[in-house]
Amino acid sequence: MFAKDFVWGVATAAYQIEGGAREGGRTPSIWDVHCRKEGAIFNGNTGETACDFYHRYKEDIALMKEMGIGAFRMSFSWNRILPEGTGRVNAAGVDFYSRVIDELLNSGIQPYVTLMHWDLPQALYERGGYMNRDFAQYFAEYAQTVAKLFSDRVKNFMTFNEPQLMLGAHRGSGKAPGLCLTDVETAPIAHNILRAHGKGVLAMRAASKGHIDIGMANQGCFFYPAEETPENIEAAKRATFEYRLPNWYSSLPWYADPIYLGRYPEPLLSRLKKYLPENWEDDMKEICQPLDFCGQNFYNAYRADENGNQVAEPAGAMYNAEHWNVSPSGIRFAAKWLYERYKLPVIITENGMCCHDWVSLDGKVHDPQRIDFMQRYLLELDRAQREGAKIGGYFCWSLLDNMEWNLGYRPRFGLVYVDYKTQQRIPKDSAHWYKKVIATQGESLREV
Ligand code: BGC
Repeated sequence: MFAKDFVWGVATAAYQIEGGAREGGRTPSIWDVHCRKEGAIFNGNTGETACDFYHRYKEDIALMKEMGIGAFRMSFSWNRILPEGTGRVNAAGVDFYSRVIDELLNSGIQPYVTLMHWDLPQALYERGGYMNRDFAQYFAEYAQTVAKLFSDRVKNFMTFNEPQLMLGAHRGSGKAPGLCLTDVETAPIAHNILRAHGKGVLAMRAASKGHIDIGMANQGCFFYPAEETPENIEAAKRATFEYRLPNWYSSLPWYADPIYLGRYPEPLLSRLKKYLPENWEDDMKEICQPLDFCGQNFYNAYRADENGNQVAEPAGAMYNAEHWNVSPSGIRFAAKWLYERYKLPVIITENGMCCHDWVSLDGKVHDPQRIDFMQRYLLELDRAQREGAKIGGYFCWSLLDNMEWNLGYRPRFGLVYVDYKTQQRIPKDSAHWYKKVIATQGESLREV
């Protein structure tokens, strides 16, 4: 079903699993500061300890090996490597990631490293964060440092995770740094993140030892057709790429078109041009660097009618434990449209489901809905490739239940259950199921 070289992975992010927040010379990121604010995070949870991956990485890598996982998407904490954001390199931080990477490689697992998964060093936030035009330069320095230190062993990188949600964090989503700004202030932030991506790619290519693959893990608002008629499909595609809703910063094309195609999309550009920095057009060449894959996080899509308008889910629709709709056909359309528009192999860099998981009286964690969710999405992904899209891999979010940002430890997305009191790990039924999917290259997905 899926090719031999198809990448079967799991995805994580530093702040969500590492803990060790005050160890090994790490300084705070905006998330450490945000979590201390009264009422900012569900139940006052923080990532101080999280899943304690900082101390338990060997155990977690052994679990992955046992499952037959081929690739581990992890992020580096910028402030663990460069505690002041720029300048001094922290040897203890570098040593930690070196040990993790060696353990992964010795276990036959390829590391896929995201340079930044939302945890901006607090020191840089205090220098203006993404609002500072120099942010792009700071990021390039960090990217160069990582490439110099790790590109002998890490061959796959992503610059940013979901610029859409990084912007959302400045528009009242409740994520760090917890701001609520306007278009005037946020359009330049998005532009600076794109500049940082471009400069980061250039810096990594220049510093790396041998060839490395680089991409970005985007989010975005996808629409799927309510009825699969040619008109409705076309309308859903238009709604996705000719984005018209007020929350432009959540859209896919505002970020994806510049990095892959070198231009901002219409009609958003006409609306936002006036907020972009002077001479923004001069930056486009640097923003649009050749990339090796099109990384896409995909959880759900919104239903669109034959006019491309968003319509409610039908009565009785499927939802996850946080009430996000479940829309398996969406991943098929997304993968096909991405490949058609950007012409790069698509890698699903995140996909998964939070369920109401707990330990049953038999001591196991039964999660039939997660299995059903992944089965449906993977079957649709297979259909997308049979219909012509090139798909390079699939990363399940997530290996472990973890610190779900402002939702704290409430949502459980892991294939492996984490008891946060004891840090005991229990592979859920889905972990055993995924093992079989990987071992059969997807053939077992046909078993219903
Ligand atoms: C993020 C992850 C997050 C997941 C589930 C994605 O938007 O990249 O960090 O945990 O969604 O909420």
